[in-house]
Amino acid sequence: MSDRVQKPRLVLATANPGKARELQELLAGTGVECLSLIDFAGHPQVQETGRTYLENATLKARGIAEWCGLPALADDSGLEVDALNGEPGVDSAHFAGPQADDAANVAKLLAALAGVPPERRSARFRCVLVVARPDHKTLAVEGSCEGTIALEPRGASGFGYDPIFIPVGCDRTFAELGPEEKNQYSHRARAAQKLREVLVSFLTNHVVPGATCD
Ligand code: IMP
Repeated sequence: MSDRVQKPRLVLATANPGKARELQELLAGTGVECLSLIDFAGHPQVQETGRTYLENATLKARGIAEWCGLPALADDSGLEVDALNGEPGVDSAHFAGPQADDAANVAKLLAALAGVPPERRSARFRCVLVVARPDHKTLAVEGSCEGTIALEPRGASGFGYDPIFIPVGCDRTFAELGPEEKNQYSHRARAAQKLREVLVSFLTNHVVPGATCD
């Protein structure tokens, strides 16, 4: 792309620094300038009142796009544990309570799985990415990653449930993998790969199959 052509801009509608860092890396080289929500003082705190990842990602992307007048990208994701009937799922961020931090959520999940053997600790991460334009059109993609829950936390990289999630095909947790290796497996990387194929067209106002509009 010529330097004289202004790059399309996209606001990353997340206050989670771990997600923001990964999204920046995953969208590198697309020709899109990713702006951080941190650069927008006084941005609204969008309430995640939906019951699905898609509903919540759409609420967040639309809320920020309308507020700042620029296209916005939101990520809603969660961890589904089979032995817990799919919990914590969309409630992953608040599994241990409304103000819970990552350590509290991990501790609660390990306690809920106490005594469950490795072969019954299957789980998956899911991620839905929604891009909303200020004209209300939205584009959604999703990705997932199958794995198991470790018996105890391992590793110091990443965020959230990374220290206890072991992706299929690997014997280390996400937190034991560096960012590049996590991106070979992760739910977010798989969703972002789909987004990369259509993002510039969508931002520059071309019709993209799968884009929706109210
Ligand atoms: P939300 O998408 O803001 O509702 O929160 C998603 C929850 O899942 C948070 O607790 C995140 O820390 C967690 N989560 C989402 N993606 C990942 C990931 O890639 N690694 C670890 N935890 C994650």
